[in-house]
Amino acid sequence: MILLGVNIDHAATVRQARYRQHAATSGGAVEPDPVALALLAERAGADGITVHLREDRRHIQERDVLRLRESMGTRLNLEMACTPAMVAFAVGLRPDTVCLVPESREEVTTEGGLDVVGNRDRVKDVVAAMTAAGIATSLFIDPDLSQLEAAVALGAPMVELHTGAYANAYFSSPARRREEFERLTLGARHGHALGLVINAGHGINYVNISEVRQLPFAHEFNIGHSIISRSLYTGIEEAVREMKRRMHGG
Ligand code: PXP
Repeated sequence: MILLGVNIDHAATVRQARYRQHAATSGGAVEPDPVALALLAERAGADGITVHLREDRRHIQERDVLRLRESMGTRLNLEMACTPAMVAFAVGLRPDTVCLVPESREEVTTEGGLDVVGNRDRVKDVVAAMTAAGIATSLFIDPDLSQLEAAVALGAPMVELHTGAYANAYFSSPARRREEFERLTLGARHGHALGLVINAGHGINYVNISEVRQLPFAHEFNIGHSIISRSLYTGIEEAVREMKRRMHGG
């Protein structure tokens, strides 16, 4: 059974659109509270919660992550850039996993994943620091063989394959969609053969999940925008339950 990590960043995006200048991140009139939504998502069957604490703090704030850490019951996955400040934050926080993602232009591949090949030394140092702190590291990468091999060489136990190019092509180009799904499939097979745990994420929604769920060796999908958007209609619990149903072929 493929696991579901619910990314709650976009609940914070809505809050920040109105309350960016506010000192408080929850309580009183300040809403929505991404932490409250995370706890409801867990109750509905989310297997983990993902947050991206960005350097520009455009959505999730440090206080959100600290409140999550002390109140949630499943696994906390912290997405972060490869910076000394984020390494120090993660070591203090002790999330269950971190996922290293690109934030600056030089770290990003043309498809949008972390360029592990081009940033070997930096990524290696972060993976080592996390391993020493007992935190498992995932790398958010394109499904390229060279990136997968670099991930293994640097000691990462897990990768998250970037499904953004596939999701973008889904409606616009059937040929490109097939091509991208084939790349993801080959990447998943190759990564699995190298001993990596295979996760996937970005742009997964209630429509493309019927195909994405067929990705071989998939361990977990991290899904944010579509679930937060659906929750506006149905509430987050039903949005999570519906995604899980579809992940499992319902
Ligand atoms: N995985 C990673 C590494 C991400 O950075 C994000 C957010 O962009 C997601 C998954 C979730 O993507 P989405 O919000 O498109 O579902």
